[in-house]
Amino acid sequence: MRFDVVTIFPEYLAVLDVSLLGRARREGLVDVHVHDLRDFTFDRHRTVDDTPYGGGAGMVMKPEPWALALEHVFAQAPADAGERPVLLVPTPSGERFSQGLARELAQREHVAIACGRYEGIDERVFGWAEELFEVRLVSLGDYVLNGGEVAALAMIEAVGRLVPGVVGNPASLVEESHEDGLLEYPVYTKPADWRGREVPPVLLSGDHGKVAAWRRAQQEERTRARRPDLWEALGRDG
Ligand code: ADE
Repeated sequence: MRFDVVTIFPEYLAVLDVSLLGRARREGLVDVHVHDLRDFTFDRHRTVDDTPYGGGAGMVMKPEPWALALEHVFAQAPADAGERPVLLVPTPSGERFSQGLARELAQREHVAIACGRYEGIDERVFGWAEELFEVRLVSLGDYVLNGGEVAALAMIEAVGRLVPGVVGNPASLVEESHEDGLLEYPVYTKPADWRGREVPPVLLSGDHGKVAAWRRAQQEERTRARRPDLWEALGRDG
């Protein structure tokens, strides 16, 4: 699968070279291309922002460099992609990014990400981009980052690790938090007694049925205590 990221800080995405995703890129499982928005400007200062109509604090990203950059990205679509590529726009005013959306995106051939800065991108860009892309405005959570780059990294990692072959042991993908709507159970390794703290005895019992039941109970208890919103969404009562 291919990601194209448009940003005014291409160097922010350099960390994609390391760790699991770096290996996936080198092995050709995940292809990530980063584009500098300023390469799509024509003035001496490579200007990407301007003052907001209607007044107000901060600057707004101009639409034309975005149109040119996104047309360039659209033209890079993999030959076998078929469907319209997805354009993710990280913004605190988007729909919530989730494991479900990550799973959906991992099925796609081409995902573009438009990283805004300042007060955001001229709103008209999103309507215009609908002609080329399936546009999704997405938020990592209810807090404000300085721009979309960190969110893009999170989304690329969340989606990229679901691409077959990226994570060595696919079974580990099934048991993790959010896959079944519950948080993950706690895990322990050797030694069994560490600084006076013992591993729950059931995990040493060798009884797989008991272990599974204990883990399930832990998942439920954690989810109820830490994420009552998820617990309620599962239709359980507290
Ligand atoms: N850009 C700024 N804040 C963001 C957030 N919370 N999620 C996604 N993109 C953002």
